[in-house]
Amino acid sequence: MRAEASYGLNDDARRVTYRVGEGVVGRVVQSGKPVVVPQTSREPLLLNRLVGQARINSRKEVSFVCVPIVVNGKPQGAIGADLVYKEGRDYDRTTKFLSVIASMMAQALKVETFIAADKQRLLDENIHLKHELRERYDFGHIVGNSNPMRQVYEQVTQVARTNTTVLLRGESGTGKEMIAHAIHYNSLRAAKPFVKVSCAALPETLIESELFGYEKGAFTGAQARKKGRFELADGGTLFLDEIGDLNPQTQVKLLRVLQEREFERLGGLETVKVNVRLIVATHKDLEKAITEGEFREDLYYRLNVFTIFMPPLRERRPDILLLAEHFVEKFEREHHKRIKRISTPAIDMLTSYHWPGNVRELENVIERAVVVCESNVIHGHHLPPTLQTAEGSDTLTRLSLASAIESYERDLIQDALKTGRGNRAKAAKLLDTTERIIGYKVKKYNINCDRFRV
Ligand SMILES: Nc1ncnc2c1ncn2[C@@H]1O[C@H](COP(=O)(O)OP(=O)(O)O)[C@@H](O)[C@H]1O
Ligand SMILES: [Mg+2]
Repeated sequence: MRAEASYGLNDDARRVTYRVGEGVVGRVVQSGKPVVVPQTSREPLLLNRLVGQARINSRKEVSFVCVPIVVNGKPQGAIGADLVYKEGRDYDRTTKFLSVIASMMAQALKVETFIAADKQRLLDENIHLKHELRERYDFGHIVGNSNPMRQVYEQVTQVARTNTTVLLRGESGTGKEMIAHAIHYNSLRAAKPFVKVSCAALPETLIESELFGYEKGAFTGAQARKKGRFELADGGTLFLDEIGDLNPQTQVKLLRVLQEREFERLGGLETVKVNVRLIVATHKDLEKAITEGEFREDLYYRLNVFTIFMPPLRERRPDILLLAEHFVEKFEREHHKRIKRISTPAIDMLTSYHWPGNVRELENVIERAVVVCESNVIHGHHLPPTLQTAEGSDTLTRLSLASAIESYERDLIQDALKTGRGNRAKAAKLLDTTERIIGYKVKKYNINCDRFRV
């Protein structure tokens, strides 16, 4: 124990320490009960360590009253006072008075520890989340080993540790944002913020205050200064998504920031300097936008320093199955399901579809399949109709009810045979039918049972 605060003592008191149980004060803290010493000169237990000479030097007899400070039922300290000795003093009253003060202190302590614990919890959570983010955007979590993706990885590795502006191009859903994260978390700025602004999602008037911030009173409703995303990203990375949709005025301002690395907040004169690495992305044909006068050529040259093209999913078919399995695992966990595999016909449907929405569409298709899947195998009929029609794939013609049912039946039988390792009797049992019918269907669908024997 040590003295946290005192009145009437010199600074030396601050250096004095007690063990719990030691002396009168130590006993108060140990027992949680008040102690009254009417005449300190007669109390051998008093160590006089804290008050030292002061108490001894005073010629007059001194009384000492000490009460515990109790937080959540546990004594956490004590408060004591020296009083001039008076015969017949009402010590009860003094004890009560000190106890009231002690309980007020206890309340303050309680609030303080609560706030400190809350702050610590937030700090811990923040560290944990940062760690998780970094892990999520680790290269290991980007799926795909097709040649086009390998080229992407190589480019990311080349550029990540530099400060070069990166332009990510490719159709919607090809993974541009994911690559932007990967670049940040593999850069020297990984511990600093990654800030995203979607230029398409914000109305023109809002985007500038979003990017550059504003001063108090810059416009009605600007009640206090607000930092823009450029400032928030200081030291880190700013990701401008859908840059092709940026309006002409803001394009001019952005160009200036890129050239001079400084800007003013809206309604302000102060120049703000920032150290920001820029990554931009778009699905638009920027060259076409330039000829049509929608995108500034000078800005384009500033942004087009290191360009990474994200290949559409249909140009990297080998990745489809890998991604599908990755998403099955993800959504299996999310929806608390157990999925063993994707059936062969379903795989065929997935790999022959042209995926206009790319990886995002595949992710959605798999989530839906996991949700509607009533067994532990994903079948063709768990996939949305777009994958089953002629428009959706080059190989399948539009399904009639009869052929849809046949395809479902074939799926079920193949599956049962797989589980029964090619044994028709077992397959029949699993499907609650006879071996004769299974035999007939196997012939009808031209299923090769030997495939399933292991
Ligand atoms: N190679 C990949 N591996 C794993 N997930 C991916 C991959 N590419 C894209 N995704 C996922 O697909 C979705 C769309 O990706 P996103 O980066 O937002 O695309 P974009 O920004 O190009 O529209 C996201 O949920 C992302 O995690
Ligand atoms: Mg995107």
